[in-house]
Amino acid sequence: MTATPALTFRLVSKVYDTFSRESRFALREVSFDIPPGLKVAIVGRSGSGKSTLLHLAAGIDVPTQGEVSIRGRNLAALSDRARTLVRRQEIGLVFQFFYLLPHLSVRENVCLPGFIAGERASEFGERASELLEEVGLLDRAEDNIQELSGGEMQRVAICRSLLRKPRLLLADEPTGNLDDANSGLVMNLMLKLASKEGNTLVYVTHSAELASLADEVWRLQSGVLNPS
Ligand SMILES: Nc1ncnc2c1ncn2[C@@H]1O[C@H](COP(=O)(O)OP(=O)(O)O)[C@@H](O)[C@H]1O
Ligand SMILES: [Mg+2]
Repeated sequence: MTATPALTFRLVSKVYDTFSRESRFALREVSFDIPPGLKVAIVGRSGSGKSTLLHLAAGIDVPTQGEVSIRGRNLAALSDRARTLVRRQEIGLVFQFFYLLPHLSVRENVCLPGFIAGERASEFGERASELLEEVGLLDRAEDNIQELSGGEMQRVAICRSLLRKPRLLLADEPTGNLDDANSGLVMNLMLKLASKEGNTLVYVTHSAELASLADEVWRLQSGVLNPS
């Protein structure tokens, strides 16, 4: 028996209404299964639907048609509360612009998902330290986040995304705001951590070189998915 896929899309379409008469297909009948632990890079031009795909996978947005399932559970069939729990407990998100909180320390930013989930600091303090150690920033834990460079901020954001041990890690152009040297460093750290933690990883990138580090590279063209 094969394992339940970490993430499934079944004929998923997303249509946005526009001011002109035509509606815009951001995704067109996209179907795939991603087995647990696989690392997939999504590439494609700007506007090809990459962010839409990740938002639907994360349950941040809902498809116009089709089904998105996390470990076999159709997100649309869950209650709002159950869907929120899946998102908090099973999915880690990393974005291009980090979205760290400016007035908090490095450690507090990493711990934020734990506080939001209503856990006590004693339950995730050690985990935060371990993750910061992994990305080489434990000695910066008490610094204000604003003192860090862009590459360092993204390493903190990766720690934050992994704090609660999500099975699925989704990253939308995680190196889009970094120079080449930092991009390589951050991407390699993310892949290393995903392997170590056993995450399934889906990341969007514009770099053919960084995409080639994944197990598979999939290309979106005008909302249509083509495994390459
Ligand atoms: N909220 C929205 N409202 C209307 N159109 C949108 C919205 N979000 C995205 N789109 C459109 O959907 C298409 C795919 O967008 P997106 O998924 O952001 O692409 P990518 O991340 O590959 O650049 C684009 O044509 C974009 O303009
Ligand atoms: Mg995008």
